[in-house]
Amino acid sequence: MAEPPLAVRRRSRLGSAPKRSRPPVGPSAACSPLALKRANTGGEGVPAQRPVRGGTGKRKGDGGVQEGVCWGFGWLQKNLIVIYCNDSEEDMFGDYNSFCEDDSLLAQVLDTEHTRPQDAETDVKAAGEFVLEGLPSGIDQRKQDNSSASETGVICGGDTEHGFQTPENDPLDNKEDLGDSLLDELPSSQLLYFAEMRTKKIDMSKCSSLDKIWRASSPCPDSEHKNRSTEFSSDLKSDSCKNTSLKDHLKNALTENAKAQTLKVSKTKQLKEAILSEEICVARKAIGSSSVDIGPFYGLPSKVKDLFWQLRGIETLYEWQHDCLTLECLQQRKNLIYSLPTSGGKTLVAEILILQELLCMQKDVLMILPYVAIVQEKVWGLSNFGIELGFLVEEYAGSKGRFPPIKRRCKKSLYIATIEKGHMLVNSLIETDRIGDLGLVVVDELHMLGEGSRGATLEMTLAKILYTSKSTHIVGMSATLNNVGDLQKFLQAEYYTKNFRPVELKEYIKIRDTIYEVDSKAENGFTFSRLLNFKYSSNLKKADPDHIIALVTEVIPKYSCLIFCPTKKNCENVASMVCKYLNKEFRSHREKEKQDLIKDLKNIGNGSICPVLKQTIPFGVAYHHSGLTNDERKSIEEAYSRGVLCLLACTATLAAGVNLPARRVILRAPYVANDFLKKNQYKQMIGRAGRAGIDNAGESILIVQEKDKHLVQDLVTSPLENCYSNLLPEFTKGMQNLLLSLVGLRIAVTQEEVYNFLCHTLLGVQQQLLSKEKSLSELVKDGLESLIEKGLLTVKIMEKDQNSKTALAITRLGKAAYKGSIDLSYCNLLYKELKKGLEGLVLESSLHLLYLATPYDMVSNCSPNWMIYLRQFNQLSAAEQTVADMVGVPESFIAKKASGQAIRKNVDSASVNRLYLTFILYTLLKETNIWSVSEKFNLSRGYVQNLLTSAASFASCVLHFCEELEEFWVYKALLTELTKHLTYCVKTELIPLMEVAGVLEARAKQLYNAGYKTLAHLANANPETLVKTIEHLSRRQAKQIVSSAKMLLTEKAEALQEEVELLLKVPTDIPGTS
Ligand SMILES: Nc1ncnc2c1ncn2[C@@H]1O[C@H](COP(=O)(O)OP(=O)(O)OP(=O)(O)O)[C@@H](O)[C@H]1O
Ligand SMILES: [Mg+2]
Repeated sequence: MAEPPLAVRRRSRLGSAPKRSRPPVGPSAACSPLALKRANTGGEGVPAQRPVRGGTGKRKGDGGVQEGVCWGFGWLQKNLIVIYCNDSEEDMFGDYNSFCEDDSLLAQVLDTEHTRPQDAETDVKAAGEFVLEGLPSGIDQRKQDNSSASETGVICGGDTEHGFQTPENDPLDNKEDLGDSLLDELPSSQLLYFAEMRTKKIDMSKCSSLDKIWRASSPCPDSEHKNRSTEFSSDLKSDSCKNTSLKDHLKNALTENAKAQTLKVSKTKQLKEAILSEEICVARKAIGSSSVDIGPFYGLPSKVKDLFWQLRGIETLYEWQHDCLTLECLQQRKNLIYSLPTSGGKTLVAEILILQELLCMQKDVLMILPYVAIVQEKVWGLSNFGIELGFLVEEYAGSKGRFPPIKRRCKKSLYIATIEKGHMLVNSLIETDRIGDLGLVVVDELHMLGEGSRGATLEMTLAKILYTSKSTHIVGMSATLNNVGDLQKFLQAEYYTKNFRPVELKEYIKIRDTIYEVDSKAENGFTFSRLLNFKYSSNLKKADPDHIIALVTEVIPKYSCLIFCPTKKNCENVASMVCKYLNKEFRSHREKEKQDLIKDLKNIGNGSICPVLKQTIPFGVAYHHSGLTNDERKSIEEAYSRGVLCLLACTATLAAGVNLPARRVILRAPYVANDFLKKNQYKQMIGRAGRAGIDNAGESILIVQEKDKHLVQDLVTSPLENCYSNLLPEFTKGMQNLLLSLVGLRIAVTQEEVYNFLCHTLLGVQQQLLSKEKSLSELVKDGLESLIEKGLLTVKIMEKDQNSKTALAITRLGKAAYKGSIDLSYCNLLYKELKKGLEGLVLESSLHLLYLATPYDMVSNCSPNWMIYLRQFNQLSAAEQTVADMVGVPESFIAKKASGQAIRKNVDSASVNRLYLTFILYTLLKETNIWSVSEKFNLSRGYVQNLLTSAASFASCVLHFCEELEEFWVYKALLTELTKHLTYCVKTELIPLMEVAGVLEARAKQLYNAGYKTLAHLANANPETLVKTIEHLSRRQAKQIVSSAKMLLTEKAEALQEEVELLLKVPTDIPGTS
């Protein structure tokens, strides 16, 4: 089917959402948590692939590596490409670089405030005028002819018969400024659109003034910028002197903004924006019609396609990606689970679905990712899209995120959240009756459902969404799913799978000096491949009995290599050992950059560097595990991505944590710590090899000792592990937490309703796996009773039509617990300690408060060094020393412990340990130097950093807890500040810079020293200047910093706008005005 000129195809994807039916799951057998966890259904197999409707793409064979469906685009799209070709990569952010044509943020806010309530017409006019400037008045119908396509300079290849064309020219190469001539190239629909704008004035009132500011701002000479900002600042000064009214401010601001909008604005830029907005309009209109028109790129403006090319280097979709995106179930807004091997390209599909929801359906989206680092990476990666396409990207990780989120007037939000913060976000949306605002929830790594307390939290989140919002659809993806049937039933989802990997991954195992290829057809799972060809001296044999050096030197330094090791210590040992025996020639490879990296790490460590890294980096080798600080990890990751480092010895966390690809992945042993490797872990680790777009081949080698041979045979031949509900095994964080919040959110207020909800969880689906001891309904009954006993729930008698009925209600403490996501096992203790704190909180320093915010779950693993404990205690002021006594740790106890004397007095070890952790945190807050603190306490810097991150997160939970309890009002202000300090733990001046996703302390220091001192400095920075002035900053990183800063600034400004609007809103119930 040929693409029509405007590339608008008809589909039902955007049509009305049919209601989901929820088949009841009947209760059956009972269970013990353990039985549930261990039981194995043997998997449900993979349902047959759903028929794909309406695939208009050129179909190719399944195996086609890199062969994809060319993106369809027609007349308009071709023109758009010409337009965007004009933007070189360097220019990508050019027009957005500054607010220079406009004034301060205040002016923008005031502008909105002024123009909105008073005169939408003026707004419309101004907007219309600035878009129209320089446009021709007439409509040249001749240019409507599609045949003129080739004249535009875009050569379209591909399957034109099927309407799919591919730009052969690299859009980035075309740097010609097409200026006014572009208008001649526009199709009539576009010209008509502009003409209509001029005569009818387009309704721009829906766009915030900030939108206009971003869009209208174009690069301006520095002098102009300076003039304008001084002009405005003097305005402000005189305003404040005169103490003028808000109205006068508004007037000034409006005048300023009016001037700003008539400043020089690139015509190409205007056109781009106008065309983009028209495309979005087309897509939006399509939603309303019954037979749906779809935009040129899966319902999205073709700019989206260009952005994927410019920002990700993705030119065509894989065939499966196209098939998946055009699935009928997605068109009907049904839930979907899709599963493809690692590196199959799952993210792109999710991102296109997200953009459809934000731009076409005009709904907010929640994306749930497993780790803070990945959330930050994603916020960083999607901010560009947000700025270009006009939506907000909000980070919900660690202590970041607002509950409930700010309700945006105009822009839609993409919340990128960890599992925990995603849960809190969903709770807050249900509570405020806004869950329907979420159009789509995307869950990456869906198999996490089966992983401990995080799995339980994810399950609760999804179950609540399913139960409370019929209009929110859920899409989950993973490379490692087995019992898909259970998950489908739970999520009421369709399933799509394909065994596609763009880069072939060859799996090997090594036993002694023989390499075997993993071969599912072979009898024992392996076939002989080759013998290792590397001469080992007797010395080397002793040092490297597992031939790691032989395996590594086959690939490095030309290609990259990861070695997964069972423990942190082993990572360091392997890195050191390899370097000891590596040829000296390895040192000369990218020598200067390696020296720079060492310098960088020294800066991070305030002059210190880990001796192991100092020894290994000159060889291009490093270790990577949680013992490193975040800053160190980031530097090492960046150096590895750039090829400066070619070998990383890492722990399993890297497999799921960050996207660091390799030509060869070596598994040092089939163990993670002392546990034999699970199939899922194995698949995730080897999946780092041969990533698309980076490598054209990939291989994994698992080093096996003879004794483990049979276990490894099982490992490679067995199916992936099943995903089981963790609601019961994680009782206080899972089941009890769920029951409490169900009542708290009034999702279910009777035992029957709670049971009914539970039937719709994964646990409900897997009821048959419960042991015979207790049925689900009995478990519900027990759970509710225990919550009543703990004082978290109560029973209320409700009188209705002379019939009394009992219903459950949440107590204040219960509400505080679920709002703060406090583990119910220590909820009462927390309450007691906070209450006691009210009687005499020592406010001379933050020590006492810090104790109250020290995370309970780190206490059991803490073993104090008594000498250090005493030393730290002695350094405290007299007032601070009383804190120890108040929390139940007498000085005499510490002194006796330090001198090795026996202790008769009964002292609570949990309080003792907790106070020790508080001392570490207190020293950190004072010194803001992880290195010196870890030395002082003789701990790894990674541990210290982890403590800090956990404390920041827990402090924000305690804050939410206190917000629900009136008696704790005093803690609110105190904990807000403390959370902020713990979150950043740097000198105050660096905090505004570190708020930007991905900017860690070391980078913030560099930026600050280079003169970038505020968020606005970063948002308006020129990436090229940043690259020149900041050491070791790539252009890509510079652009990402600028776009993340812009995104954050926009978000903050929008929030202020909301506040202004709310403040100025005329109440409808003013007495005497009826
Ligand atoms: N159509 C495409 N053309 C070229 N490269 C692509 C395409 N789609 C995805 N990629 C690239 O493939 C790489 C792997 O994609 P992605 O991260 O989405 O994999 P994944 O399926 O999520 O794997 P994992 O399960 O390991 O997370 C990325 O670098 C991505 O940019
Ligand atoms: Mg992925």
